[in-house]
Amino acid sequence: MDRKYVFDFDSTLTRVEALDVLAEITLKGRPDREEIIREIQHITNLGIDGDISFTESLERRIRMLQANRDHLPQLIEQLRKKISKSIAANKEFFETHASQIYVISAGFREFIVPIVAEYNIPEERVYANTFEFDGAGNIVGFDETNDLAQHNGKIECLKNLDLQGEVQVIGDGYSDYVMREAGIAHKFFAYTENVHREKAARHADHITPNLDEFLFVNDLPRNLSYPKNRIKILLLENVHPVAFDNLSEDGFSVELVSHSLPEAELIKKIKGVHVLGIRSKTRVSRNVLDAADKLMVVGAFCIGTTQIELEYAKNKGAVVFNAPYSNTRSVVELAIGEIIMLMRSIFPRSMEIHSGTWNKTAANSREIRGKNLGIVGYGNIGKQLSVLAEAMGMRVYYYDIEDKLALGNAVRCDTLEDLLNVSDVVSLHVDDNPHNRNLIGSREIRQMRQGACLINLSRGFVVDIPALEEGLRSGWLSGAALDVYPEEPRSNGPFETPLRGLDNLILTPHIGGSTEEAQRDIADFVPNKIMEYINAGSTVDAVNFPNIRLPKQQESHRFLHIHKNVPGIMAHINEILASYDLNITGQYLSTDPDVGYVITDVDREYNKGVIRALKGVEHTLRFRVLY
Ligand code: NAI
Repeated sequence: MDRKYVFDFDSTLTRVEALDVLAEITLKGRPDREEIIREIQHITNLGIDGDISFTESLERRIRMLQANRDHLPQLIEQLRKKISKSIAANKEFFETHASQIYVISAGFREFIVPIVAEYNIPEERVYANTFEFDGAGNIVGFDETNDLAQHNGKIECLKNLDLQGEVQVIGDGYSDYVMREAGIAHKFFAYTENVHREKAARHADHITPNLDEFLFVNDLPRNLSYPKNRIKILLLENVHPVAFDNLSEDGFSVELVSHSLPEAELIKKIKGVHVLGIRSKTRVSRNVLDAADKLMVVGAFCIGTTQIELEYAKNKGAVVFNAPYSNTRSVVELAIGEIIMLMRSIFPRSMEIHSGTWNKTAANSREIRGKNLGIVGYGNIGKQLSVLAEAMGMRVYYYDIEDKLALGNAVRCDTLEDLLNVSDVVSLHVDDNPHNRNLIGSREIRQMRQGACLINLSRGFVVDIPALEEGLRSGWLSGAALDVYPEEPRSNGPFETPLRGLDNLILTPHIGGSTEEAQRDIADFVPNKIMEYINAGSTVDAVNFPNIRLPKQQESHRFLHIHKNVPGIMAHINEILASYDLNITGQYLSTDPDVGYVITDVDREYNKGVIRALKGVEHTLRFRVLY
């Protein structure tokens, strides 16, 4: 179809209003600069929304600008850096459709022409105002006879152009919409990538948050196969606001819900959602996964993933990410603090003062310098604790069931007993393997040194509570700190443990990893994983999915195919690829016993029939194309 595309310039092709930028340049160094710039922006908006006459808005602004011809090169240089993100990403569209593209702007040719020239738009297709200069090069006015210097001048301008075919206008302002209202343009796209102007959006045939959406709707060549604004992300349970910022800045449509949703509500809400973000309270059950028609990713903005049916999700082709390391440092810092508090008997001294007793004593108060710390479980947390404890002068011993490299001067123990025998403080950092139930019982406690302390920040079931109670009551252990319990309540409220009231025992409600920093880190970590998967197909660190680390996709199309891992399926996929004579530039495959994930990069040109053929492969769980 013969189409013409009429683009606005300011806040559409560029992210800014050029005269605002010019003001920043010309008013540099003036004490009232901010005030004048605010006033100029205000007048700009009044003009754009049609609240004052456009000529008036222009006159007033030019007077305030005090600009000179010499300022223009600087302005152009700055505008060049401020092309709208999705416009810059789709330069190819401007190259291939050059003859159909026009710029109609109430801005000025002096800066528009050099900017759009880089996008293949020749000056004869730029319609805009022109400045008037005095002998000294000062900008003193503009050509008032130009249609575009008039109120609703774009109507007249477009009318005079007498364009053939369907005319589509793309702009951010009401003054762009008027061409459609006057019946000279056929469609108006409100462009909201840089600024959302309600008055324009309200009247638009289509709101386009970026050029990708506009190109998608018109089925035009584009940089992204699927506009990101069409990818719906639902974030539940009040995840950190930075997660929202990260995902929406990347262009996704993100909805926030402050609480968790019960199954029945989530089943309704999950329809059409591509990415679900949860914390520990939302159950992603089989029923929820069955109701999800678009779900590609579940992001657990926490450490644990037991609230998600991981295997079921995998078999539906939904990838799950969590943030296993975001709170490592938080746990380690608590462990360090507790080692000191226990060795110095700080809690008993503090309790005494709370109940009105002064008891200044050095009894049972020891420095940690030179003492032996035994770390059981030398994983993420154990290792980091090892480094910090050593820096404070402790001698570190560790025991792990796997062969772990010692950091710093830490000494590996061959058996748990060796470690228990030698340590002044034992800190547990094993994982949640069921074999670790009662790893520390009466026998192990008696294997510890008399007067030693025990810290458990790992899992509640790792320590046999009656044995610990006996160890503390008998005085064999001089102190202990627990953050985790064999049974923990689901919500805050009453809590009972036989350990209540014991001396030199620090009890905390599973807060080892609960810090603002950890929450903040999760809000970066999980969105990054989500974006790497959606934008490029990478599944590194996925909890339930074969991991594939991918090179950056360059000048190619990427086919992502998730399938049931049944015999012969890869052969079938490759037969199809071969039959379409594709030039494959890279192929990556990872499987587990249930699913296979294969990524194929092909040259830019390919027969679209291959997509249908790949989607049609039996046992396909999900197929996507990225470019
Ligand atoms: P990780 O998986 O990196 O390390 C666990 C290590 O323990 C591994 O090296 C493993 O080989 C070792 N291990 C397992 N069983 C063992 C055994 N019987 N004897 C000796 N070594 C054994 O885990 P990460 O990230 O270091 O976390 C450690 C623990 O801390 C986990 O149980 C986790 O749930 C818990 N955690 C607690 C938090 C809290 O708020 N209190 C916050 C974060 C983690």
